[in-house]
Amino acid sequence: MSAPSPAAADRVRIVEVGPRDGLQNEPNPIPTATKIALIERLAACGLPVVEATSFVSPKWVPQLADAAEVYAGIGKRAGTDYPVLVPNVQGYERARACGVASIAVFTAASEAFNRKNINASIDESLVRIRDVTERARADGVPVRGYVSTVLGCPYQGEVPVTDVVRVARALVGLGCHEISLGDTIGVGTPRRARAMLRAVAAEVPVERLAVHFHDTRGQALANVHASLEEGVRVVDASVAGLGGCPYAKGATGNVATEDVVYLLDGLGIATGVDLDALIEVGRWISAELGRPNGSKVGRAGNWPPKDVAS
Ligand code: HMG
Ligand code: MG
Repeated sequence: MSAPSPAAADRVRIVEVGPRDGLQNEPNPIPTATKIALIERLAACGLPVVEATSFVSPKWVPQLADAAEVYAGIGKRAGTDYPVLVPNVQGYERARACGVASIAVFTAASEAFNRKNINASIDESLVRIRDVTERARADGVPVRGYVSTVLGCPYQGEVPVTDVVRVARALVGLGCHEISLGDTIGVGTPRRARAMLRAVAAEVPVERLAVHFHDTRGQALANVHASLEEGVRVVDASVAGLGGCPYAKGATGNVATEDVVYLLDGLGIATGVDLDALIEVGRWISAELGRPNGSKVGRAGNWPPKDVAS
């Protein structure tokens, strides 16, 4: 059976991860005020979800040591979700103490990556996550779950798809409402992405799946398109293609949000995002960080440009 094509009336929810996944790997200190401004400007573009920061150990990710100040400082828009990453109960309690209303937990399909990233095996991480999700359920806090290294691991190499399915299913069993499947080091191509998605979707309804492609090898947008054809309607992306994982050597940023919105606009799939405004945000944060803009649409501009269109 051929894959369904995206229909014109479709809608995709973009999960903007730039302020977290994007900034966590930046080597130079970034002022807290800049982080807050980035989050506020992204939300003002119409992005429905802006992952704000991480309550991980500041020894492991010093760049996000100001998580509490960042979260407290955001002028929150009604209707925008500002989830944060939480690795354990300590992180959960820190997050809740500053009023966090939704969280994301994370583990991987690779033992080797988990050991480097969170100093735990997969099963140990699931126990930690259970401790978090039990508290979250009692508090009425929605939990998203990430599975990293779904298409390859920087330490282990190949990752069997059965391991991805097992971990995704376990996270659903622990109460995660949505599972984001992460190609952490950007090794996937559309054929493998589709095969992985089909295997996971046989166990977890596709409506509950999100995709999270890093663009290390330039495949991310093609993988997003293939995922749309597989029925996925939640896509993680990072403004200006910021980012990488500090514990996945060589991983570059996520697929750029501007490029994803341009693609979706072209497919007639609604996102609610103002692309012109988003391009401005991407240019601004790239200049603030002193790094090249990782979005092709951000560099080239929207089409048709406003002055040509009018
Ligand atoms: P550990 O060293 O095994 O933990 O780290 P521990 O429990 O032994 O604690 C060590 C110290 O950290 C203690 O402090 C704790 O209090 C403190 P000390 O007694 O030495 O002074 N600590 C904390 N402090 C603040 N907040 C906390 C916290 N927890 C412990 N929550 C741990 C284990 C999980 C904490 C650590 O490995 C960690 O924080 N790792 C996070 C790594 C990370 O953030 N990686 C990037 C995010 S994942 C990602 O990017 C992938 C994703 O984008 C999807 C994809 O692309 O695939 C999501
Ligand atoms: Mg990531």
